[in-house]
Amino acid sequence: MSYHVINEHSAAAIPLVPLRKTDLETWRAGASGRQQRWLEAAGFEARPGQCLAIPDDDGNVQSCVFGMQEEGWLFQLAAIYRNLPQGRYVLASDWTSTQACQASLGWGLAAYRYERFKKNGQYARTLHITADVAARVQPLCAAQCLVRDLVNTPTEYLGPAQLADAVVAEADRLQAQSRVIAGEELLTANFPAIHAVGRASSSTPRLVELTWGAEDAPLLALVGKGVCFDSGGLDLKNASGMALMKKDMGGAAHALALARLIVQHRLPVRVLLLIPAVENAVSGNAYRPGDVITTRKGLTVEIGNTDAEGRLVLADALAYACEQKPQLVIDFATLTGAARVALGADLPALFSNDTEMAAALLRAGIDYEDPLWAMPLYQPYVEQIKSPIADLNNSAKNSYGGCITAALFLEHFVTQGTPWMHIDTFAWNQTNRAGRPEGGEALGLRAVFHYLEKRFS
Ligand code: BES
Ligand code: MN
Ligand code: ZN
Repeated sequence: MSYHVINEHSAAAIPLVPLRKTDLETWRAGASGRQQRWLEAAGFEARPGQCLAIPDDDGNVQSCVFGMQEEGWLFQLAAIYRNLPQGRYVLASDWTSTQACQASLGWGLAAYRYERFKKNGQYARTLHITADVAARVQPLCAAQCLVRDLVNTPTEYLGPAQLADAVVAEADRLQAQSRVIAGEELLTANFPAIHAVGRASSSTPRLVELTWGAEDAPLLALVGKGVCFDSGGLDLKNASGMALMKKDMGGAAHALALARLIVQHRLPVRVLLLIPAVENAVSGNAYRPGDVITTRKGLTVEIGNTDAEGRLVLADALAYACEQKPQLVIDFATLTGAARVALGADLPALFSNDTEMAAALLRAGIDYEDPLWAMPLYQPYVEQIKSPIADLNNSAKNSYGGCITAALFLEHFVTQGTPWMHIDTFAWNQTNRAGRPEGGEALGLRAVFHYLEKRFS
């Protein structure tokens, strides 16, 4: 309800007029004496985020002026959203369509609340947008809010079974194919690492596959870490380390939302979406430190730490993806705390075996205000993940550069020569900011979508 496509009812919508401090004098000069005094009395200085309704001579709201953010477009409207009274609005600016799209998207992102367990009773503020803007913005907003909803949903309501259901339901809506391999079937179908990580949970582990698109279109494999809860396993996390771990399926949420965007836009690709959906739980049959798993690819992995579970489930999924000979593999994962130490909460770490492609993705991130930061697949650190008794150890010998050693681990399961991007993301806003409510968040999603859109159409 936060958007409305402009039609005959839009005449009543209140124009939102962006002003920079330097525009204020010009605007003032064109206003009536009453309006000028009103501006003065309200102390409107066009400070970023400041907004003020301007009455006409009859006391009706004629427009609403607001102070622009100094940088960017995405949060221009988001910054005033919460300060606006109930009503219909329309952006009255000389911005380019890209800028208007960004700002309109921010409006929808600001309107989002996670309301499954508590309604906020917020009143309706609707932005009237052109059909063109709506066609761009509504799918993006919905995709981003899908990620937020999935991440915000407590594990009790979004365990492996429900995450798998969500993917299958999405496949049905998109008229895509889907398939779920669950429990013991994972062993017969040769996904031993996914099974080992997920077997201790009362919700059995699964691998969910969604496929869509022409058989002869270039194959794009999307993989998302779907750890519905990460207790750490027998290497149990402490209370603060575990507190947010319902969000450890954030990568899966990103991959699913991206698949949806690709299908909605009919990009000329064939999509293979793979979601290993598991809970890293503690039980008598849990996998243990010191165990050795023979993965799908045949590489043996010594378990140095049961809390390094994400790379294990991804290992089998990546190996399976590469068997289909994709043109490109992209994985999203809330893989390491180390990526957060390195880059903070807002910047996903991007790893790729193709530097040109990575540069193009970073560019899209800047252009669409969804930034990522490149990190290196620094080969000498492979030393850190060697094991005396197996091909690899799932946890590095020291914790330095932990997101790099995790990415190097994954690289072993990507067929040499297959272009691959790995995105280690946080999927969470730690604080409330305009357009970025505390809780689940999509980070890097729009960057990747726009990159793919440009590349394939
Ligand atoms: N899901 C966590 C990573 C994580 C933690 C992401 C906190 C965001 C915030 C992952 O499964 C994990 O536990 N990683 C360990 C790896 C270590 C045991 C080698 C980590 O980062 O500490
Ligand atoms: Mn873990
Ligand atoms: Zn995890």
